[in-house]
Amino acid sequence: MLPGQEVQIFTLSNNQGVEVRIINYGGIIVSINVPDRNGKIADVVLGHDSLAGYLTRSCYFGALCGRYANRIAGGRFRLHGVEHQLATNNGSHHLHGGLRGFDKVIWIADARDDALKLAYLSRDGEEGYPGNLSVTINYSLTDDNDLRIEYFATTDKDTIINLTNHSYFNLATTRTVLDHQVTIHADAFTPIDDTLIPTGELRSIAGTPMDFNSATTIGARINTDDLQLRNAGGYDHNFVLRAGENILREVAEVYEPDTGRVLTVLTTQPGMQFYSGNFLNGSIVGKNGRPYIKHFGLCLETQHFPDSPNHPNFPSTVLRPGERYHHVTVFKFSVR
Ligand code: BGC
Repeated sequence: MLPGQEVQIFTLSNNQGVEVRIINYGGIIVSINVPDRNGKIADVVLGHDSLAGYLTRSCYFGALCGRYANRIAGGRFRLHGVEHQLATNNGSHHLHGGLRGFDKVIWIADARDDALKLAYLSRDGEEGYPGNLSVTINYSLTDDNDLRIEYFATTDKDTIINLTNHSYFNLATTRTVLDHQVTIHADAFTPIDDTLIPTGELRSIAGTPMDFNSATTIGARINTDDLQLRNAGGYDHNFVLRAGENILREVAEVYEPDTGRVLTVLTTQPGMQFYSGNFLNGSIVGKNGRPYIKHFGLCLETQHFPDSPNHPNFPSTVLRPGERYHHVTVFKFSVR
């Protein structure tokens, strides 16, 4: 953000009393107010009370991540034989777009009744990426409580792209997410090393603590003596979603038994990073003075697989001139 730039806040609301607030700094979703099974409305995402919090501490709360969400090993990749070096901001790796990713830029906003369009032109060379990349995000809210996020981009040079939203959900709002019940429609995940870079393997979830095909609480197996859980301090893994890419289909559900709140996730993306807030350690005091302790939020980051540019067996993240990047993710809220 540059001095003198103004940050605006927008509200999407519907006839169910659901309200979503978004700022044009980082395209950050700052609040999602939804009812529980008794109609009690509460804010189910982590964040800060004021803009200052978002400017000074970056946990990517609610933010748009790009150009490349998640990690690229060593910040390096080759495209047509040319090596590109990206900014590194996570040890020796590139994470969520680099030092000044899409979570830290001002987007041009265009608000309609039930939708907010955000646009950003990422210049050739920004954070080391090739090509001028023109990105548009459309946030909208329906009367069925669907928060729909639509991502579009075009480029003038071959480049790579992987966009997501990094909301941390807590459907209970007052304690960790360990009792949240999670279902993920996936048969495989991408194992990681101890710096959270995929090894390149697609490994079956069968018989492992990664199997969420039937609803399981996050806490049930998170402390299992398992190398993958140890590498990440919990869940911080990309799931290979069933039924492939480009079809908008249900991929995950989160149910919180006390409040009855349900979050259903639909996406056109091939992968989803399930992150159980392992790096939260209480040092960030968020909304309402609440310290965000370990596992206080969970992320369901629909996206392509981390470090795809370095793994030819992963779905491609290359975008070429004349092509249009287009993905949709829906966060649907209900009760049971
Ligand atoms: C990553 C985590 C990281 C978190 C916040 C997630 O997408 O997978 O490893 O700590 O974002 O940066």
